[in-house]
Amino acid sequence: MRPIYLGCFFIARTAVAFETFEEPSQQAGLTTPDICIIQRAGIPNVYFPGDTTYLERVQSYWSLTSQLTPECFVLPRDSGEVSVLVRTLVEETQCQFAIRGGGHSSTAGANNIENGVTIDLSLLNSTTYDPVTGLASIGPGSRWLNVYRTLDPLGVGVTGGRIGIVGVGGLLTGGGCSLFLYRQGFACDNVHSFEVVLADGKIITSSSEENADLYQALKGGSSNFGIVTRFDMKTFPTSPIWSASQVHPESASQAHIAAIKKWIDDVQGYQNSSAIVFWSYRPALKETIIISGLADLSGTANPPILQDLLAIPGTQAEGYRNIWFTLTLKNDEKTLAKAVELHSKLVEDMKADSSDGDFETQCFFQPLPAVIGQHGRERGGNMLGIDTQEENAVILLGSLAVNGLDQEALGRAKMLAWKDDLERYSLESNTYMPYRYMNYADGSQDVVAGYGKENVLKMLAVSRTYDPDGVFQRRVPGGFKILGKE
Ligand SMILES: Cc1cc2nc3c(=O)[nH]c(=O)nc-3n(C[C@H](O)[C@H](O)[C@H](O)COP(=O)(O)OP(=O)(O)OC[C@H]3O[C@@H](n4cnc5c(N)ncnc54)[C@H](O)[C@@H]3O)c2cc1C
Ligand SMILES: *[C@@H]1O[C@H](CO)[C@@H](O)[C@H](O)[C@H]1NC(C)=O
Ligand SMILES: *[C@@H]1O[C@H](CO)[C@@H](O)[C@H](O)[C@H]1NC(C)=O
Repeated sequence: MRPIYLGCFFIARTAVAFETFEEPSQQAGLTTPDICIIQRAGIPNVYFPGDTTYLERVQSYWSLTSQLTPECFVLPRDSGEVSVLVRTLVEETQCQFAIRGGGHSSTAGANNIENGVTIDLSLLNSTTYDPVTGLASIGPGSRWLNVYRTLDPLGVGVTGGRIGIVGVGGLLTGGGCSLFLYRQGFACDNVHSFEVVLADGKIITSSSEENADLYQALKGGSSNFGIVTRFDMKTFPTSPIWSASQVHPESASQAHIAAIKKWIDDVQGYQNSSAIVFWSYRPALKETIIISGLADLSGTANPPILQDLLAIPGTQAEGYRNIWFTLTLKNDEKTLAKAVELHSKLVEDMKADSSDGDFETQCFFQPLPAVIGQHGRERGGNMLGIDTQEENAVILLGSLAVNGLDQEALGRAKMLAWKDDLERYSLESNTYMPYRYMNYADGSQDVVAGYGKENVLKMLAVSRTYDPDGVFQRRVPGGFKILGKE
């Protein structure tokens, strides 16, 4: 097959490259004359700057912060192609690469790369169900809506994302908060087995019976050990779900804080319940509103456990540059109120300093009662470090969406100040918790350290066993890495 010219490669076939490459892109060719050998490896879906598909892939990332421009996107069609691709990149090039599932992380460099190759798993998007094993096999490039569309008619469900467009690969390797979180733990705790392509191209399965150390490490370990090419998830029979979404003015803040605090303390006794609450500044309204998403998995309308939230008389827009951070806080009313107060301050600051006034925020409370850690432990354990958590807690997602690099820099400084102030407050009030939910974290946050020393050591051991040369540490530089954490 025709070799293609590519900047980051390091193979002495320069002459061939110059002869055969028709339209070298500005950046790719002129400095380092190397050859792309991917096509030689027999993988057809490789897209370069200038290709229509390349542009479409760049634009397919949810947050503009992730719309980086790699040397090329490669879209393997099956795990065999992922295997050949990894082996080729590792053995025959010096190239760095990134792994992309659904592309919803806003952390620049986690799911895309400059001066490297992006392995885009979008075509690994099938969902099948085996009634004999009761397992659903789901590709890492799928979107949850498509997963549900396939499984719903078959009468089975899985613990997946709450918003249809979100991707599978990142959500399931980072943790995963679903409607079933309180009944069944994190989404990753409901994975029966992972099919993984290792750095040497080997395709292996990891489950509680086979490569069990890797199985545990992948539940929270993200892209540190290999590329997951299939998730076999446990299913459960579907049944009607009751749900309600409510919107309130900011003046109802105190009532929401008290109600969600109480719900978190009660949910262990009624795990068929789900609730999230968030404060959000909306540019179209020019004000902050409070949104609550409530559900009952047994289909009971207006269940008693949700009475407080129900008695207090929408999704985020795409196309912005998104800045997210996370903290975990003990379930304490004063601390939750502090988070809301600091969010209002951020909104006021942004109103004063934003150049276009077009920004959107969230102060999102994702409950983390202690029972979730128990569910994880009962399902074989994960890396999150919450299985010994005794107190109920809340994962806070702070998010800000802005336009342009200037506004991103301005906004990031304000967001990090919000995080630092709240972190300090929680330390002083003894409501601090070390866990950081990877899928809500800013790239500057040390998610891996938050998993705790014991889990870090476990992950380092798994890395040494399955990836002895540290390919997924050094050659896949983006995301939350375990390297250097010992
Ligand atoms: C609108 C919106 C709604 C959301 N709703 C929820 C929700 O309901 N619950 C929740 O828990 N989170 C939610 N999130 C957060 C979400 O979990 C993360 O953004 C997650 O990373 C999305 O997965 P993805 O496949 O799109 O990730 P990507 O951005 O593609 O990847 C994220 C990270 O995972 C790694 N990765 C991806 N696939 C693989 C793989 N196959 N093998 C190895 N590593 C891989 C990537 O390298 C990268 O480091 C939401 C996000 C958005 C933007
Ligand atoms: C998988 O992705 C392809 C290419 O984008 C798309 O045509 C197809 O409909 C997707 N399949 C599913 C099940 O989502
Ligand atoms: C939760 O809901 C499911 C589905 O309706 C039901 O089978 C189960 O018994 C319920 N559990 C409890 C504790 O109510």
